[in-house]
Amino acid sequence: MTQPVYDERYARPGLYWGSQPTQLARALVRIARKLPRPPKTLVDLGCGEGRDSIYFARHGFRVEGVDLSSVGIRKAELRSARLGASVRFRVGDMRTYRLARRVDVVFSSGALNNLPRRTRTARFEHFKSRTTPGGIHAMNADVLKPYIPPSSMNPCATPFRSGELLGYYWDWEILDSGSGEFISHAGGVPHRKAMDVVIARKPPPASA
Ligand SMILES: C[S@@+](CC[C@H](N)C(=O)[O-])C[C@H]1O[C@@H](n2cnc3c(N)ncnc32)[C@H](O)[C@@H]1O
Repeated sequence: MTQPVYDERYARPGLYWGSQPTQLARALVRIARKLPRPPKTLVDLGCGEGRDSIYFARHGFRVEGVDLSSVGIRKAELRSARLGASVRFRVGDMRTYRLARRVDVVFSSGALNNLPRRTRTARFEHFKSRTTPGGIHAMNADVLKPYIPPSSMNPCATPFRSGELLGYYWDWEILDSGSGEFISHAGGVPHRKAMDVVIARKPPPASA
């Protein structure tokens, strides 16, 4: 299934999500810098027009950006080429996408809600198993709250349950996590959102 909703958004002039990296991307770079062995390779799942992927490349990561929207990926490619940032962008579906090699970081901002609930455990297990020991996941997900009306912005998305995202990392070291509510202006219609955030580290080998 394609997502015409995003193709249509990305076909508009300008950058739908803006050019600035997300808070989560900035937080990850801050944390990565302080690690004894800073991570090098990174996959950005649901990278959209590539604002975070490009930011990571500019901070020295070897980046692969994956998104279902070919329109978004094309825009990301053009922008990264214009800015001289080397990123491998590819059209891919995170519901089935398999990491061929281990990566140091799996990152996803604003996109995980597109994973159907029944597939999430298996998908997180795949991404965790293909992460280098000592590597990092930085993720956020929209969260279902009974007092917040469901957003009609993306009919294909299913919000996470409160705490669900953290639960997938029960066996990893939690470097940062939180929950928050804010007003999103995506689509030009202000709407309330709740979001959970996790930055977690795969335990390194015992001797590391
Ligand atoms: C809210 S946007 C976030 C984009 C980007 N992470 C950012 O912050 O600029 C969600 C993105 O997820 C992508 N997406 C939706 N379903 C997807 C799927 N099954 N596989 C890969 N990407 C998907 C959409 O095309 C869209 O670009």
